[in-house]
Amino acid sequence: KKLIIINGPNLNLLGVREPDIYGNLSFTEFLDNLKQRYPNVTITHFQSNIEGAIIDKLQEVGFSWDGIILNAAAYTHTSVGIGDAVAAIKTPVVEVHISNTFSREDFRHQSFIAPHAKGVIVGFGLQSYELALQSFLASHV
Ligand code: DQA
Repeated sequence: KKLIIINGPNLNLLGVREPDIYGNLSFTEFLDNLKQRYPNVTITHFQSNIEGAIIDKLQEVGFSWDGIILNAAAYTHTSVGIGDAVAAIKTPVVEVHISNTFSREDFRHQSFIAPHAKGVIVGFGLQSYELALQSFLASHV
């Protein structure tokens, strides 16, 4: 399986940024550990703070890869463009969030991605990414 994790704005600061909400682990540390535990899965990571770069990446992988794990971060709540890109591509997208966006401000309750996603995993910390990965490994009938 070829999976890609696409992380949006400010997620390059994981481990440093608001640790009460997002934890103390950097994404690199988490990802290294995840890759070791799933040696048979190709897991690529792309992070950008730029909306258009996220759209470019979705288009690039979205017709040939097996799965996309997307944390569009703040763009989740604002970006019609990223939502449209998810609708346009063929590869299934699982939307993830580290924090429970529904227990936070009202503006975080809206997602432009969720209507086009295969599913959404919210609020499990970095484990949200692993649960999304597992959803692509489970066999579906
Ligand atoms: C987030 C939640 C978003 O509301 C926020 O803007 C983020 C991170 C999360 O993973 O919990 O940057 O996507």
